[in-house]
Amino acid sequence: MNEQFAHMIIAIDGPAGSGKSTTARLVAKKLGFIYVDTGAMYRAVTLYWLEQGKPSIQEFILNLPIITLGIHPETHEQQTFLNGIDVSGKIRSREVTENVSYISSLKPVREKMVEMQRNIGNSQSVVMDGRDIGTAVFPNADVKIFMIADIQERAMRRLQEMKIQSIMPLPSLADLMETIKQRDAFDSSREIDPLKKADDAVLLDTSKLSIEDQATKIIELVHTFNNQ
Ligand code: CDP
Repeated sequence: MNEQFAHMIIAIDGPAGSGKSTTARLVAKKLGFIYVDTGAMYRAVTLYWLEQGKPSIQEFILNLPIITLGIHPETHEQQTFLNGIDVSGKIRSREVTENVSYISSLKPVREKMVEMQRNIGNSQSVVMDGRDIGTAVFPNADVKIFMIADIQERAMRRLQEMKIQSIMPLPSLADLMETIKQRDAFDSSREIDPLKKADDAVLLDTSKLSIEDQATKIIELVHTFNNQ
């Protein structure tokens, strides 16, 4: 029997490489909800800043780009558009990764992205992943998960992703661990909407879990919520 869901918001937050995106995508697929990768939006704004030649922040915030999201017709993956151009691949570059925490700490950038994320989530059932979904974007989300994993495990997963995406040159595991740690520290200590577990979020340590296990645990929480 197919379970009927009311409009629902599932918020998945956590540090880099904790398994959020892959799990969130699978959960959304299983439930028939839309998946929104909010990190991709911040990455696209960062790409724009780089493409503009790193203008001063005062200048940049007066001319923020238009970011839109779509679903690829064949792969069903999220597509990210920057002023109408598909930048889904480009936003994964090393240069974007190195600058994204800085650009996403800017208040006008966050305000614009959060408004868009709320519009998407208010109009349809979503699984949304990011850093501040359960704390700032949707503090009343129906199900909140905070995913964590060992730093070494997270770096190994990220390295594997980079291999699949043919990102060259590949960093060493030690370097990758260091850059992930730095990004997490920056994201956790920024003034506006830092990376932080919401008090009512369920903590999920994915260090020893498979993607299927992670998705199953979240779906169990969704069923429990839906049948309350
Ligand atoms: O996939 P990965 O863990 O590398 O990160 P991401 O989800 O693509 O997010 C990239 C960066 O965007 C994060 O390190 C944060 O600085 C920022 N971000 C944010 O500030 N708020 C969000 N809701 C999502 C991402």
